[in-house]
Amino acid sequence: MTEHTITNAEIANLLGEAIAAANAAATSASLQEVRVAYLGKSGKIAAHPYFQTIKDASPEQKKIIGADRTAATTQLTAAIEAKKLALEAAELNERLAKETVDITLPASPIRRGSIHPITQVTEELTAIFADFGFTVAEGPEIEDDFHNFTALNIPESHPARQMHDTFYLKGDGKQPYPVLRTHTSPVQIRTMIAQKPPIRIIAPGTTYRSDSDMTHTPMFHQIEGLVIEKSVHMGHLKGLLHDALAAFFGLEKLPMRFRASFFPFTEPSAEVDIGCKRGRDALTIGEGSDWLEVAGCGMVHPNVLKNCGLDPAEWQGFAFGCGIERLAMLKYNIPDLRTMFAGDVRWLKHYGFNALDIPSLIKGVAA
Ligand code: PHE
Repeated sequence: MTEHTITNAEIANLLGEAIAAANAAATSASLQEVRVAYLGKSGKIAAHPYFQTIKDASPEQKKIIGADRTAATTQLTAAIEAKKLALEAAELNERLAKETVDITLPASPIRRGSIHPITQVTEELTAIFADFGFTVAEGPEIEDDFHNFTALNIPESHPARQMHDTFYLKGDGKQPYPVLRTHTSPVQIRTMIAQKPPIRIIAPGTTYRSDSDMTHTPMFHQIEGLVIEKSVHMGHLKGLLHDALAAFFGLEKLPMRFRASFFPFTEPSAEVDIGCKRGRDALTIGEGSDWLEVAGCGMVHPNVLKNCGLDPAEWQGFAFGCGIERLAMLKYNIPDLRTMFAGDVRWLKHYGFNALDIPSLIKGVAA
């Protein structure tokens, strides 16, 4: 497009004056004033009588006046833009020359977060079980009835299935309703269905029960273990739990006993107790004549294997599950369960762990 030469002398003069004003602007702010004064809605260009004549002009004249208007505004806009860039460069150079950074000043503090004891203990147990060849498996916190109950051989009438014990969701409105998983055991099912044995997994995670008092919170954490092989037995289970718990508490030997119990998904089933001494205001793990329950376990029930498509004549295995809060409280002397989820930063400052200090067996996971 060839540039249109402005036909009106007054406008040509006005444009010259405007460009001169733009070029004379010493700061971005005064340049902006020039822009408003000339290019604004009722600025000197728009308001000029010559452009007002357009209303009554002939079509031929209208064309010329319009072209004059466009030429005046585009030329002035270009001049202002060019000046703007020049001013900005000059202002930046001036600032760079003037301002210096005082590197001797202290840096602004960065607040460092800390790792919650639940996370810490989960990491510690994961490191310990990884050393025994376990990998970490996961499952959803919103479970279905099949994985949380049915496949685990839990009968229809089991109390855990009652509305007041378990958090049910509406789902699509059809029964069975989805549930917030009541334990990490459904990960056993998911793993056995998804992968071929041999299996050696742990599944740490969040679990939910409609329970709330001094020693229960509606949300809590468990770590599940599952081993499926051809000939693993209760002895392996006991040895593994002993060594894992001893490592966790940083003890060579830990008094531990299996107490006969019942879970629908294991047979035989046992409750795991560790030896401790209950002092007046301290609890010592590993000595004394008291017992403390820390886990549930047993041999995987043949029905559970069948529900996952495994032949109980060919495969057998064991499973265990323990509460992470309990272990964290015992190891790190946390007296009140409920404080764990109060979200108090002062509590976290006291009981939390350095985020960069990731638990590993190399430096030891015991406190
Ligand atoms: N799921 C059981 C509970 O929540 C614990 C458990 C896991 C018991 C695996 C046996 C085997 O109480």
